[in-house]
Amino acid sequence: MNTFKPSLVVLFLLFALLANSCKTGAPVNDGADTMAEKMVARMTLDEKIGQMSQLFDGYFGDYEQFKQAIREGRFGSLLNYLGADKVNEAQRIAVEESRLGIPLLIGRDVIHGYRTIFPIPLGMAASWNPEAVKAAFRIAAAEASTQGINWAFAPMIDITWDPRWGRIAEGCGEDPYLASTLAYAMVEGLQGDSLTDPASVAACAKHYAGYGFAEAGRDYNTTYIAEPVLRNVVLKPFKAAKDAGALTFMSGFNELNGIPVSADQFILKQILRDEWGFEGLVISDWASVPQIVDQGYAVDEKDAAAKAINAGLDMEMATTTYFDNIKTLLDEKKITMEQIDNAVKNILRVKYKLGLFENPYVDPEAEKKILDPSFLEHARMVARQSTVMLKNDSNTLPLFADKISSVAVIGPLADSPRDQMGTWSFDGLPENSVTPLEAIRDMIGDRKVNYVQGLKYSRDRTKDQFSAAMAAADRSDAILLFIGEEWILSGEGQSRGNIDLPGAQSELLTALAATGKPLVVIIMAGRPLAIGDELKESDALLYAWHGGTMAGPALADLIFGKESPSGKLPVTFVKGEGQIPFYYYRKNTGRPASDRTWTPIDEIPVENPQSSLGYESFHLDYGYTPLLPFGYGLSYTTFTYSDLTLSDDEMSITGSITVKATVTNGGEWDADEIVQLYIRDRVGSITRPIKELKGYRRITIPKGETAEVEFTLAAADLAFFNGRETLTEPGEFDLWVGPNSDEGLHAEFIVR
Ligand code: GLC
Repeated sequence: MNTFKPSLVVLFLLFALLANSCKTGAPVNDGADTMAEKMVARMTLDEKIGQMSQLFDGYFGDYEQFKQAIREGRFGSLLNYLGADKVNEAQRIAVEESRLGIPLLIGRDVIHGYRTIFPIPLGMAASWNPEAVKAAFRIAAAEASTQGINWAFAPMIDITWDPRWGRIAEGCGEDPYLASTLAYAMVEGLQGDSLTDPASVAACAKHYAGYGFAEAGRDYNTTYIAEPVLRNVVLKPFKAAKDAGALTFMSGFNELNGIPVSADQFILKQILRDEWGFEGLVISDWASVPQIVDQGYAVDEKDAAAKAINAGLDMEMATTTYFDNIKTLLDEKKITMEQIDNAVKNILRVKYKLGLFENPYVDPEAEKKILDPSFLEHARMVARQSTVMLKNDSNTLPLFADKISSVAVIGPLADSPRDQMGTWSFDGLPENSVTPLEAIRDMIGDRKVNYVQGLKYSRDRTKDQFSAAMAAADRSDAILLFIGEEWILSGEGQSRGNIDLPGAQSELLTALAATGKPLVVIIMAGRPLAIGDELKESDALLYAWHGGTMAGPALADLIFGKESPSGKLPVTFVKGEGQIPFYYYRKNTGRPASDRTWTPIDEIPVENPQSSLGYESFHLDYGYTPLLPFGYGLSYTTFTYSDLTLSDDEMSITGSITVKATVTNGGEWDADEIVQLYIRDRVGSITRPIKELKGYRRITIPKGETAEVEFTLAAADLAFFNGRETLTEPGEFDLWVGPNSDEGLHAEFIVR
């Protein structure tokens, strides 16, 4: 018999094809479709409905009833059910004691680490280091999977322009390009090189889509997003997640342009399935299906279930409108069995691709890897690279341990192990956190540290520790003031109308500034705060977000000069809420403002005649620039940019050009610089942003040395959706290469 023995080359090509198509999310003939078709053909309606439900273990009553429900296939996924032994037993029952042996998906929010907690995603975005972020998410998957979790509800990749929104903490900031590169990396980290690797978990791109545009930054609020913004900004990271092979998506709570996205055929079908070819499963957010009734888009929960199923929502999280109504809806012909079968096939394919039919079990020994020293070291590195230095007058930083006799460590976030982990870190343990106080004592010795909490927590207004804080400052060479937000002030349902520092923290800062001692302020927060005054009164300021388990050692490393700060802002810092929304890729308007026309409000002469202030786009009080621009961040060294060259100043509509620039480290520190490439399309069939990030490189340049940075810019990179189609239009373009969105070397080119 002529058996076909594929050569190694053929096998390699087959593997490469399979690996690549997994990556790009392109259809893969890995047997999943065949399995799903055959399995669905054997399933009863109850079993199908079960697969479409993600429930709690307690939903069915006691443990015996829970196990019986598994045997009957009453649900296909569990939420927040974890522990190797517990999950193994549930999987064993599902696989060995149910009629069809379909394993369970076990979902959990693993947003920025499981037990080793990394900086909040907004902080990780400030590292501009996709490889480091990918490794962080790989560690998160490795730890979470030891508990039986095979599905992480991450990455959260909602773009937002509003720092009042509590969930800005969970996302990757305001820019679609940066967010897309990080979304891709996060999915790769969670799903690994092999989906069937026991340490891999399914990713879940969320919250699809537009949730971050909640009006007034108030969580769960209405969103209205014009299609050009939807496609040119909001959807970009989701497309990147899909291209990275994300197995699942989660629909959001929000209504988008009048339609709840959990019931929106345009979002769930036309874009995700028809345009992008997504083949995974879409799960609702927590009770986002019954909430369609509250949104006034369904008359009752049965109607809500029908609208969600007709829109292509495959699985319902936590609530039971599917469970309770699908049979009736089929009888009433409000939905079809084909829709049910498609949803179940999407779900079965995910389980198949994860290898759960082959092996749904967890090695109980695996959990020994949790908090592995290498994981903690990576968390420390990511926390360092996520920290952004916003000010360093007279080189206040770094402090040199051998040159100082003592430092005053003050503030409610200096020794708050829970707060430094930030939101969505419920599997992190405060006892694993190393706080800044602990790390500083460890680095320079207890003797040199004068610690006063100053305030009990970030919202505290009691000033009875102020005098002790002042006294500590007086007997120290420098002050390290750790302030910011408690973790509970950002995250889901935790939006703030006011984004100042809470409590009496600013007053504490002012009091300490009055001592005249070098004042180093470290802000740990879940959002960009309005810190204009604090910035003025500080000698140096580090923005550390909520830096995770190893925030303390990371900050000690930076403060005492083990490494230079290198983070850059992934979000614009506004002067106050009145400027919101403010994002760097804004439009020029017909009346772009300048200092020529803007008169600061306090300099307006009394009884000034009406027409004298200049009719341009500014606020009398805030002006027209933010407090700090997107991409901004300082270093202990100085980087200068030179020799910007383009391979050509023209490119065809299908061509590309090579962009080069030289960056010189002129200081005394080896350090990383994040070089950014921006463009401007001067004229379009719709108005175009004044700048758009199209590339970046984090490069290490030894002190005194020079590096050349190279980008390839293709015409396709300039494409945008103009309300009718996505295209690159010929015309004149500006280009910048520089250290942030406000400055850089400039060049021009033409697309013909
Ligand atoms: C929450 C969040 C979502 C999370 C889910 C499960 O309400 O919106 O991000 O994954 O419920 O906890």
